[in-house]
Amino acid sequence: MTLKIKSLTQYKNTYRESVQKPEKFWAAQARTFQWRKRWEKVLDWNFDEPDIKWFIGGKLNITENCLDRHLKKSRNKIALIWESNDPSQPHKEYTYGQLYEEVCQCANALKAMGIKKGDRVCFYMPMVPELTIGVLACARIGAIHSVVFAGFSANALADRIKDAQCKMVICSDYNSRGAKNIPVKAVVDEALRKGCRSVKTVLVQKNTGESIRMKKGRDRWWHDEVPKRKKACDAEEMDSEDLLFILYTSGSTGKPKGVVHTCGGYMVYTAFTFKNVFQYERGDIYWCTADIGWITGHSYIIYGPLLAGATTMMFEGVPTYPNAGRFWHVCEKHRVNQFYTAPTAIRALMAQGDEWPAHYDLSSIRVLGTVGEPINEEAWNWYNEKIGKGQAPIVDTWWQTETGGILISPLPGLHKLKPCYAMLPMPGIQPCLMDANGKEIRKREAEGLLCIKFPWPSMIRTTYGDHERCRQTYFSTFPGMYFTGDGAKRDSDGAYRIIGRVDDVINVSGHRIGTAEVENAINEHEDVIESAVVGYPHRIKGQGIYGFVIAGKKITNAAKFKKEVHAVVTKVIGPIAKPDKIQVVSGLPKTRSGKIMRRILRKIAAGDTANLGDTSTLLNPEIVEEIKKSAAQAV
Ligand code: PRX
Repeated sequence: MTLKIKSLTQYKNTYRESVQKPEKFWAAQARTFQWRKRWEKVLDWNFDEPDIKWFIGGKLNITENCLDRHLKKSRNKIALIWESNDPSQPHKEYTYGQLYEEVCQCANALKAMGIKKGDRVCFYMPMVPELTIGVLACARIGAIHSVVFAGFSANALADRIKDAQCKMVICSDYNSRGAKNIPVKAVVDEALRKGCRSVKTVLVQKNTGESIRMKKGRDRWWHDEVPKRKKACDAEEMDSEDLLFILYTSGSTGKPKGVVHTCGGYMVYTAFTFKNVFQYERGDIYWCTADIGWITGHSYIIYGPLLAGATTMMFEGVPTYPNAGRFWHVCEKHRVNQFYTAPTAIRALMAQGDEWPAHYDLSSIRVLGTVGEPINEEAWNWYNEKIGKGQAPIVDTWWQTETGGILISPLPGLHKLKPCYAMLPMPGIQPCLMDANGKEIRKREAEGLLCIKFPWPSMIRTTYGDHERCRQTYFSTFPGMYFTGDGAKRDSDGAYRIIGRVDDVINVSGHRIGTAEVENAINEHEDVIESAVVGYPHRIKGQGIYGFVIAGKKITNAAKFKKEVHAVVTKVIGPIAKPDKIQVVSGLPKTRSGKIMRRILRKIAAGDTANLGDTSTLLNPEIVEEIKKSAAQAV
């Protein structure tokens, strides 16, 4: 059994041992899994290349650990509960035995359609059970899954398919979200018209049943291909460092990067953190409301919970459909014990009034979690009082797509909580704060740039197809360290509070959006000459997107122009990247080397124009006054 820490003293001792002898610590955790062949060496690493390998020489298949391993004792235990978007529809349940069989059938279908170990398979699907089944089927046969969030546009999807050279796309006909049905297959068709020559097959799951086009020779139905297959499929033997999946995420440059995770280390770390952070007990019902299109869904809907033999829930819908009580209704209906969501959802539901949660019996909830962005004190207090009734500790979990699993978090019931603090590092995690000169800040109470000094099993290995980019982005700013891109504060107890990104990444509703990506998209509008995008404080989303735009002609109708910009951004990236505010300007503040001074734009966007700092190094200081004056005209 993976270690489960039960007291603060045990945490302190475990932490000390884990950083003194990390290899011994992680080997002890790894031994609790099923390996085809034991590793020869626990760890080899250098952060200069970077070259990071865990459990070297070990052979395994992660799905044998998620599924087969539980069959003896828990064949009839519920592995997965699926709750429909439509509350009048019955929910679905899959026991470990059923999930095993469906994953095997899908794995056999993929093999029959020519998918082999190492091939990349792209998923573009709503939150349906087939997404979990398909992802695990890939892992079963050693194919590498690349899940793309179904809110991305055809362009964004095509870029990701091409970058990973995917051989197959698995999608649904439509996505049923709230009161709307959104086309999915049609977006895939459009993406595939953009030169995705690697794709040989599209496997389509019938979700809403509305009519779609099927291309002969390329497109196949899930219901024709999967159910007829054998219900057993030998798992492919994988090396510990073989690729498990690619997940694209935004950075400070225009092109999203494919973060790569590998089999052995990811398995050990996600299972360990799941058990400890959520203090999962046998029989508990665990619900994470994230979408599987993001890392949270990968690690804490699918892999972590199933590795731990837990009951995990998937929700197809949105928090406010059919009304703002939906989350709480689902918690009551399934007697949810651990509930994990994002601050943006908490803020949105808080704004709907206290009567919604008051209406439901939430007494089953033992642990509440948040992830994705800093949580403000007001939202933390509301979550604590109205949902947890002061009885359920909140775990504010800090981590990233690149970290694979939770790195800094309270352990519920063990740590004395401080609102808005992610608190203390998980065992084996060695965070530190750096100053702008590249020196580690040794003082306990401090603020600085958050880095991690030592590898952990589920850390990023490379960015797909471009290792140099991985080195540059994460390992070059502070040599010998992994740089997170976040700023953080540390208090006198050594507890961490995450402040937010220090690079050109905006965190909108917990989703990472690169400013350069949005700028490139805005610039595709025919009347736009140049644009600069920054984040600004937003009541519900945490951060909103603010675009300063230079137009090639006089804009007489700003609202119409904004609509057009939205249409372009939706087409290039997807609706999640639409700017909340657009301000038309005649120039942008630039340094003599031509770099946009975003610091000034951020202040103007936040309405904080009293002290803009030193503008004397600007090429065009006069523009600042003009932008300040016209800020009121932003729409
Ligand atoms: O800025 C941090 C913020 O989200 C970023 C990572 O985004 P992504 O890779 O999309 O993964 C989100 C889900 C793990 C981080 O660099 N972030 C994540 N969790 C927190 C957070 N900021 C503050 N508090 C958190 N708990």
